Amino acid sequence: MLATIHTRARLGVSAPPVMVEVHLSNGLPALSIVGLPETGVKESKDRVRSALLNAGFEFPAKRITINLAPADLPKEGGRFDLPIALGILAASGQLPPEGLDTIECLGELSLDGAVRSVFGVLPAVMAARAQGRTILVPQANAEEASLAAGDDVIAVNHLLTVCAHLTGSERLAPLQPFELPDTSPEAPDMADVKGQHVPKRALEIAAAGGHNLLLFGPPGTGKSMLASRLPGILPPLTDGHALEVASVHSVAGLAIQPGQWRRPPFRAPHHTASSVALVGGGSAPRPGEISLAHRGVLFLDELPEFDRKVLEVLREPMESGEIVISRAARQLTFPARFQVIAAMNPCPCGYRGHPSIDCQCTPQQVARYQAKLSGPLLDRFDLHVEVPVQAGSLLLNTAPEKVDSRQIRERVELARARQLARGCINAQLSGKALQQHCQPPEEGEAILSRAMEKLGLSARALHRILRVARTLADLAGDEAIGKAHLVEALGYRKLDQSRNQPSMVS
Ligand SMILES: Nc1ncnc2c1ncn2[C@@H]1O[C@H](COP(=O)(O)OP(=O)(O)OP(=O)(O)O)[C@@H](O)[C@H]1O
Ligand SMILES: [Mg+2]
Repeated sequence: MLATIHTRARLGVSAPPVMVEVHLSNGLPALSIVGLPETGVKESKDRVRSALLNAGFEFPAKRITINLAPADLPKEGGRFDLPIALGILAASGQLPPEGLDTIECLGELSLDGAVRSVFGVLPAVMAARAQGRTILVPQANAEEASLAAGDDVIAVNHLLTVCAHLTGSERLAPLQPFELPDTSPEAPDMADVKGQHVPKRALEIAAAGGHNLLLFGPPGTGKSMLASRLPGILPPLTDGHALEVASVHSVAGLAIQPGQWRRPPFRAPHHTASSVALVGGGSAPRPGEISLAHRGVLFLDELPEFDRKVLEVLREPMESGEIVISRAARQLTFPARFQVIAAMNPCPCGYRGHPSIDCQCTPQQVARYQAKLSGPLLDRFDLHVEVPVQAGSLLLNTAPEKVDSRQIRERVELARARQLARGCINAQLSGKALQQHCQPPEEGEAILSRAMEKLGLSARALHRILRVARTLADLAGDEAIGKAHLVEALGYRKLDQSRNQPSMVS
């Protein structure tokens, strides 16, 4: 009268194992669930009862105790419905117990016994496969599960088909590993942007080395337009990184389109976003925008319009590549290795430094506006680049731009391949690897020391300049960083150069 079914909970982006133990004993008919179930799990008993009855099974008139072990791990959602139903069937002799210890399952049940989709299937599939068990997942999550499928992942749509499969009366075929061609829609092309050669070059560098980039300039010069063209020049994700990204999206309950799973994420939260929306949280912690942008881009348009407190919470994950969300009972870690592309005007009216329009802002207004961007946050940008007003004749010129996104992406991919052969992308070089691969040339040391003194650069800024110089060398196909690379990298520190001049343009 005791049955055990294996399943998995959802904890951050991991899927810790849970055993559903079902015990039937004599006594007044009742059903109790123990083992730290949250409301969604407690409601499971009503769904499971109706699902069993409507699928033609008998609901045992016994005292039913369901234990979700380990007891100290919080359980939420409807994912335990299917294992609880199978446990009751096995404990009441309606399902043979043989082979149940070699499978795992998860899924919410509808009142007629259909299996509904749940969040976080992909991490559960990966964990079950690592454990050597077959896993049954809801049919609605089949696309997502197929990203990690082998011959031991089975998609199910109804309690009856699950039982038919388990008893051997009608075996279901395992999911085929996913093999679709890339069906991502074409991103807008960089060739649509007339002129703006320096910002375009900066975007190419940022894409190649994963660097953080801040674009600033008057309204309507193409900052948002340039940033939205970044996805078109980013290289596709490697298999391992694509699985990491898909896992985060899976636990956040976002749809995963297998045809587009290798495309790096590009997240552009609105400036009214709260810090929880940005970094994640909530009573049942969910990943925020920075985790959804893991291995991709977080685009912060109109940067100073974000609440300063909200921006400050980005500082730590920008360095560490993860975010730890602490709750009274536990700590959760979500991955958050993203690159930031930000855009801003130089002042509230936007026209400070404009060649023909006068700025209407008082010096205090400008100072307050720019102060929204704290020194430490600014320090975390590798490249600060001005997006200036372009001449009308250039904008009206109908001749196509010489370089398009495809050509830039090819160069970016070559530079990336050089970096990955060394172990990691340049933006993540640190410690020994930084020293080894970002050694400035002899004549460069004097240039750097002078720049540090003149611009008041921090050690962090110095390392960032060296990483950018490394990316420039990789784009040029050079083994070592040359003087020209260093000088160009220093040229992308526009805001260090004008820190003491509120105009933000030199
Ligand atoms: N260099 C350019 N080449 C072609 N079109 C451009 C260029 N710059 C701006 N545009 C046109 O101007 C529009 C506005 O540009 P965009 O929204 O990128 O400006 P912005 O710099 O982000 O302005 P704001 O500071 O107000 O946000 C674009 O949609 C595009 O049609
Ligand atoms: Mg804009």
